[in-house]
Amino acid sequence: MKEVAKYLIKVDAEFKDGRIVPEIPYEEVMRLVNEPNIVIIKTGIPQELLNGAIEATRAWSAETPLADAPDTFRNNQHKHRLHIAKIQQAPQLFHDHTFDDMDGMKPEYRQDLLPVFDPLRQFWNSLTGNEEEFGFQEGKAYFHPQITHYPMGGSFFGRHWHPLHPQQVGQILALNQYGQEYHSGGTGYVINDTIVETEGHQDRGDLILFRYDLPHWVSPSSFADRFSWDDPAGRWVAILPFYNPWGTPADKDEPQGWKTKIKTAKNESTEAAA
Ligand SMILES: [Fe+2]
Repeated sequence: MKEVAKYLIKVDAEFKDGRIVPEIPYEEVMRLVNEPNIVIIKTGIPQELLNGAIEATRAWSAETPLADAPDTFRNNQHKHRLHIAKIQQAPQLFHDHTFDDMDGMKPEYRQDLLPVFDPLRQFWNSLTGNEEEFGFQEGKAYFHPQITHYPMGGSFFGRHWHPLHPQQVGQILALNQYGQEYHSGGTGYVINDTIVETEGHQDRGDLILFRYDLPHWVSPSSFADRFSWDDPAGRWVAILPFYNPWGTPADKDEPQGWKTKIKTAKNESTEAAA
């Protein structure tokens, strides 16, 4: 474990039998996340598995028309996101692929997606004390596996936030390598008025963990590059949101009073432990 910058902590891990096993107990990882810090887990997931997930996503999206209707949250779809979020007013430009129907995915693609999403699912379960499986659940929160491509030349995601529950801890897995396959863009956070940028700190296979109610964003890929939706160059990440799409959205107001919130969260966990 190593503090590489203020509020930014790296934790080693082993990848054993398809599971991410951190060098410190899961409870300790969650304590660091809740303090809060941005925690980067060096998962050790092999490069061929990460590449496999990118390749499966590309092959699937090449044969699947872009969606333009509102999300159903029960299918597999991909979209060019290019708009300003209604409530939070966060601008965004990226290509996302959402796999809410993992069972309905062609086996040839599912076999390359699950080796990345299953470790994330199990890791999140271990961190939060859940035992959730993939798949739609009526009226309840469920997993929304997603692979996002941030093309070169100006993709980004503006500052936004989420409700803390039921996700508690957000996960962002780097599928390719900063400095080699892309050279700009990364996720940023604000903690106690301090900007924490992870750009350049997240290597391929590194998993960023963050308290889900921290304001965060994705800094832009360099405008010096030509932009193209069709060029696979750029940053690729896998994320695993867990929420009820018809549940309560995040507050319109940014958690600016956030130091107070942290205090509340600590009190809650103390009460829970008591
Ligand atoms: Fe987010």
